[in-house]
Amino acid sequence: MMPSDFLWGAATAAYQIEGATREGGRGESVWDRFAATPGKIADGSSGEPADDHYHRVREDVALMRELGIKGYRFSVAWPRIQPDGRGGPNQAGLDFYDQLVERLLESGIRPFVTLYHWDLPQAIQDRGGWANRDTVERFAEYTDIVSNRLGDRVHDWITHNEPWVVAYLGHVTGEHAPGLTRPDLYPRVAHHLLLSHGAAVPIIRGNARGGAARVGVTLNLTPVVPASDSDEDAQAAIIQDGLLNRWYLDPLFKAAYPADILERLPIEVERSDLERIATPIDFLGVNYYSRAVVERGPDGAPRQVRPRETDGHTPEFTAMDWEVYPRGLYDLLTRLTRDYNPPLLYVTENGAAFDDAPGLDGRVDDPRRVAYLDGHAEEMARAIADGVPLGGYFVWSLFDNFEWAFGYSRRFGIVYVDYATQQRTIKESGHWYARLIAGEGTRP
Ligand code: FCB
Repeated sequence: MMPSDFLWGAATAAYQIEGATREGGRGESVWDRFAATPGKIADGSSGEPADDHYHRVREDVALMRELGIKGYRFSVAWPRIQPDGRGGPNQAGLDFYDQLVERLLESGIRPFVTLYHWDLPQAIQDRGGWANRDTVERFAEYTDIVSNRLGDRVHDWITHNEPWVVAYLGHVTGEHAPGLTRPDLYPRVAHHLLLSHGAAVPIIRGNARGGAARVGVTLNLTPVVPASDSDEDAQAAIIQDGLLNRWYLDPLFKAAYPADILERLPIEVERSDLERIATPIDFLGVNYYSRAVVERGPDGAPRQVRPRETDGHTPEFTAMDWEVYPRGLYDLLTRLTRDYNPPLLYVTENGAAFDDAPGLDGRVDDPRRVAYLDGHAEEMARAIADGVPLGGYFVWSLFDNFEWAFGYSRRFGIVYVDYATQQRTIKESGHWYARLIAGEGTRP
């Protein structure tokens, strides 16, 4: 059983749902530029019109209320606030989020604001983006503007979403904006993201009014397991864990980069930077989708392999080709508690893409998503029973939306969106989630 004050919520991100990319004085973001570059998005689409949420805030908050969600995690689009990435704010942009927060509070839904969910103003990218240390100052300035405006009503803040994704997919593989393939930039980009988090924490706290601010950061964390019993694979798994998880967790909680990974990713940083990054946080946000099974590749580096059938366990995969592995969430939460002792954890994203379509009766029946969510809820209950300080859960996602490089071809929502008409239909998983929140049992 979950504690009665457990916060059941849902998550979205600005670029994935808002649309209206040229309205309200919004500037260009790196994702507008990237999506406009031929070949970057699988279906050639962009964040326009996405879910047209910008024009549908009232309707969308009413839907959240209908589902009974207690918390809503959304992100602020930096280019709505600072179209050129610096200087005085664009009031229309601030007004938009102000209004959203008002609607949420009226509906008894607690807002969780993510400041950076990947839509950097293009103007900042033009000056070097996250590879440039000045971007840390720009982020601090932007944080000050937003937390000053909303800090009297928003008490839960997330500085960054998944810095690994920004640093690695954005700067090493080029699958995400800004689309660079510059592995040499990776340690610096990751460091600046972490440093800007550290810079933002005291600013948010300083702007809190009417109650203290609770500030955290969200990481994508992946339990890594070796593909075999061999020492080589065990070693590869340790390294992969270092690259994916400890590279971010250690500086945040221990003020140091992991020594075994520093050999591979050399970076010289000042002690004061590390102290800043390790500014105590109020919670850690965990995004969990799947585990990684890893072997030692031919070049000696860890290599992720597709999970095989083992000991009667037949792996199942989502439309992202990610393995459904609820047990990994338990393993991750208990490991975080053991190794890092965070004051509080939230699962800030978890969910699954499947090829949903409305039936002839208009219902969207998605039993595999229900099973996915139910399996993860059970693992969370187990983790809490074993002492994990888990405060809440945000399903990814409230709506079907623009799934980055996959465009609209992947549906993660508990609410179906018909992009041609913008009609929203609560999927069966959404109804299931509403019953779960209402305390009518975890089983459909
Ligand atoms: C995470 C992102 C989120 C969404 C899910 C599927 O990496 O934070 O925006 O795309 O994956």
